[in-house]
Amino acid sequence: MSILVTGGAGFIGSNFVLDWLARSDETIINLDALTYAGNLENLAALDGDARHIFVRGDIGDFALVSRLLAEHQPRAVINFAAESHVDRSIHGPEDFIQTNIVGTFRLLEAVRECYGRLEKTAKNEFRFLHVSTDEVYGSLEQDAPAFSETHRYEPNSPYSASKAASDHLVRAYHHTYGLPVLTTNCSNNYGPWQFPEKLIPLVIHNALAGKPLPIYGDGQQIRDWLYVGDHCAAIRRVLEAGRVGETYNVGGRSEKANLDVVHTLCAILDELSPRPDGQSYREQIAFVADRPGHDRRYAIDAGKIERELGWQPAETFETGIRKTVQWYLDHAEWVGNVTSGAYRDWVGRHYGGQH
Ligand code: NAD
Ligand code: TYD
Repeated sequence: MSILVTGGAGFIGSNFVLDWLARSDETIINLDALTYAGNLENLAALDGDARHIFVRGDIGDFALVSRLLAEHQPRAVINFAAESHVDRSIHGPEDFIQTNIVGTFRLLEAVRECYGRLEKTAKNEFRFLHVSTDEVYGSLEQDAPAFSETHRYEPNSPYSASKAASDHLVRAYHHTYGLPVLTTNCSNNYGPWQFPEKLIPLVIHNALAGKPLPIYGDGQQIRDWLYVGDHCAAIRRVLEAGRVGETYNVGGRSEKANLDVVHTLCAILDELSPRPDGQSYREQIAFVADRPGHDRRYAIDAGKIERELGWQPAETFETGIRKTVQWYLDHAEWVGNVTSGAYRDWVGRHYGGQH
């Protein structure tokens, strides 16, 4: 038995691959294009492990995906591959349209064709799980109830619009072609191996490097934060027991204003790695111009996955954020290779061409 994971060299995907193989001997075929966000150093612990088959390639490459499906006959496809950073989507939406919409469409087409050829039992067991975001629901007023699965889609950034489009395609492939799909919509993740362009790793890195900690606008935008290992556990649970055709919201019941998140990071760093001058890292906070179209608040009602599938996050924000800061302190070399760009050389050496 095997599963095909796309985007498994990115932040959440690599955590998922590592967690999966720590619990199971079921092979993972990992298809990843290794964009700037893909980093095989995240998976160095799996070097030489026959249960991990890495393939460099694009989810939009119909022929490649069809060949992988025919060759390995996975019982499931889990789609993490995406362009994922809102700020990048504002500066250049094209890649988001290509990967998140066109790429997901071509992936679905290849999976649909392969699914059509399966025997009855294999068909019954097959799943296509699409990993999506709470950002598709748009922005909440301060006192509005958290997003449930029936909240209407109101995406506001090119990133969230492209993810919303991919969610709709996945839904349509179920209703039109009978593809057994599952979709998860998760809140902001944090944890090991996150590229330091996102708020939490960026602030940790900049603090230690003596650089400003940029806060967009007034810093009062609210996000729900979930430790990445809890997201991976939710995906495993949905894959195992989710009802076909359903979507599941995943979140940590942990709403925080950005400024509070940064204050928490500063306090933990002050304790674990104090500044040589004895001052707090808070001194480095710098308010900068707001992000255009910045969503004010996200909040997730995770009641459905809790009730139906018995999933609960294992980490609170307080335990998860402390673990995360400690991880970044312990992995200065990884951070250095990412910020210097050296991780790209590693990619070139090991996976220069199509693998
Ligand atoms: P990431 O940017 O860290 O990783 C994305 C991975 O996909 C990279 O390894 C990249 O090389 C790969 N990729 C990009 N385009 C590809 C293509 N065309 N073909 C094959 N591989 C390609 O992203 P992440 O934070 O790990 O997010 C993973 C998924 O989870 C995304 O779909 C994202 O929308 C979703 N999500 C993320 C968060 C979050 O807080 N990070 C929250 C909810 C949902
Ligand atoms: P980010 O990590 O980019 O995730 P997303 O936009 O998907 O929620 O940003 C999280 C929040 O932090 C978001 O409200 C934007 C804000 N932010 C800053 O204030 N400063 C920064 O340097 C970054 C990267 C984000």
